[in-house]
Amino acid sequence: ISHFSSPPYKVVVCRNLGPDVMPLLENRHEFELVVWPEDRACDRTWLLENIAGATGVIVMLTDKVDTELLDKAGPSLRVVSTMSVGHEHIDLKAAAQRALKVGYTPDVLTDAGKSALHPCSSTLMNFCAVADLSVMLALMAGRNGGIGAALVQNGEWSNFSWAPFGFCGPQLSTTATSPTRKIGFLGFGRIAQATLARLVPFGITHCLYSSGPSSPPNLQRDAELEKKYNLKAVAKVDLDELARESDVLFVLAPGGSGTYHVVNEGLLKKMKKTSIIVNASRGTLVDSDALAKALKEGWIWGAGLDVVEGEPNVTRDHPLVKEPRCVIVPHIASATLETRKSMATRAAHNLIAAIFGENMPAEVDL
Ligand code: DGY
Repeated sequence: ISHFSSPPYKVVVCRNLGPDVMPLLENRHEFELVVWPEDRACDRTWLLENIAGATGVIVMLTDKVDTELLDKAGPSLRVVSTMSVGHEHIDLKAAAQRALKVGYTPDVLTDAGKSALHPCSSTLMNFCAVADLSVMLALMAGRNGGIGAALVQNGEWSNFSWAPFGFCGPQLSTTATSPTRKIGFLGFGRIAQATLARLVPFGITHCLYSSGPSSPPNLQRDAELEKKYNLKAVAKVDLDELARESDVLFVLAPGGSGTYHVVNEGLLKKMKKTSIIVNASRGTLVDSDALAKALKEGWIWGAGLDVVEGEPNVTRDHPLVKEPRCVIVPHIASATLETRKSMATRAAHNLIAAIFGENMPAEVDL
């Protein structure tokens, strides 16, 4: 590791991290910083040119870290730090082969340190911007939020006077006449559980979860979580049951080949006609054409998407954009000032720790 030992260390930063976070890097006199100068995703050619001889690089989820990039960086590279919890854009195998450290930002998206006790239950409400937005998408998709906001924006409200059943959709919270609500999670990690915690005060009764197609089809109840969230049942189920039973299905699993198009025609056909699907993980988990068909043909009620396969190239003629009951926002689930600052800070700290041979605050297991 002799080539790591003598500063200056070249550090490439693929996006300016702003005035609160950049000084963490700028004030390190051992660093020679090279920062992508524009306010848009870093150009691949710029990155390939500038990575040579770098000791560390801070990337965004828009920057592909593959063998080509790692080879260009050369043997000096010690750490790749991504400002994201997802790390599908990094070839982890190639990173492991080169004995690199990879940092990411999992716990700032679900920071138990900032928890507050929810007044309605003994549930810990983790600080989690992605969970907040997942609930927003479920509500918007169910309650015609997208359609309603668009028509007001277009100056069309006057065409729709109040009507007894105008703009009605399925209710997320339970009522006396509709006392059961089953929430499903495809992926049941920290973000999913923070989403579950937010839904407890809505009176939901059942939580079903599956970790994906390869998860064993053993049906298991989880008494501990049932008690924690005061629910009738929390159970690990297979994908069929998850699809059949969920009133709202939250897709919150990592991307990558293991979960590619796990939401497909087969799964969507099994869902309830009144159900909602929310995806705040990665676009690749959902087959967009199948989802558009499911919405068009009424297999499900609506969809709320933070991510779409092929983003950001999602234009007006995209099949999902054409579906009125599909609410789409442009990958903003973590976009609160607080969260993005924490993510950027964590990305900087991960990089600094790895370069100086200290424990990284959040290191991906390679
Ligand atoms: C992540 O951190 O992976 C999120 O997708 C960013 O919003």
